[in-house]
Amino acid sequence: VSRHSASVAEAVAGGGGALPRHVAIIMDGNGRWAKKRHLPRIAGHRAGVEAVRRVSRAARAMGIEALTLYAFSSENWRRPESEVSDLMGLLRLFLRNDLEEMAEENVRLRVIGDYRRFAPDLVSMIDDALARTAVNTGPILVIALNYGSQAEIAAAARRLAEQARDGALDPASIDEDTIERELLTSDLPPLDLLIRTSGEVRLSNFLLWQTAYAELLFVDTLWPDFDGAALADAVQVFGQRQRRYGGL
Ligand code: FPP
Repeated sequence: VSRHSASVAEAVAGGGGALPRHVAIIMDGNGRWAKKRHLPRIAGHRAGVEAVRRVSRAARAMGIEALTLYAFSSENWRRPESEVSDLMGLLRLFLRNDLEEMAEENVRLRVIGDYRRFAPDLVSMIDDALARTAVNTGPILVIALNYGSQAEIAAAARRLAEQARDGALDPASIDEDTIERELLTSDLPPLDLLIRTSGEVRLSNFLLWQTAYAELLFVDTLWPDFDGAALADAVQVFGQRQRRYGGL
């Protein structure tokens, strides 16, 4: 049995009230949160980092195995240079201030996305943080940095084409599991729940393959206002939904 269908079977057997193993969040609304308060956008992003801290602690406390946060999309480069550099600055601060806690709490930090395009000092901070927490065995915090789902799928296709060209892969054998193994999320639990804050109803090039059977939840709360209670609400909604995976 493939990893994919095995996990689907487990989830179906789990039935109602189940805890999601893997939750992903599109953290949206920082700018609007700041605007409402007549503050600069960076104040919204700063408050967004506080929410990251609160929500990742809450996810750990609830026993969620993996939390994936969309911190910087491959499209975010289109923002004004000053905002991009503010976001990079916050990421530096986050790594500097929170790495110790993550290490102590047995958190495994993971990054999906092409973060090597970032400034060299930030790339080494990220690499250090990854190496430092790689030995941990607890909950996984995945940060999506310069991530784009279509690019992820294209890269998977490219690698499979190379293997086929080299005679290491029979094109006829390519199925969903073959592709899944090439994705950046291949060693994570299957995505159960995707939350987007701030009322926007789009996936914005985030985890397009992985959301095939995930429950989607769009909430009006702006990201800086999201907290452990909001996560608990989302988990409760998840538990009440019936996942049928195309069955009846
Ligand atoms: C969306 O708000 C949020 C982002 C583009 C960035 C998310 C980043 C953080 C929460 C901080 C950095 C993260 C870490 C892990 C340190 P928006 O600016 O698009 O809000 P708006 O739509 O209201 O303008």
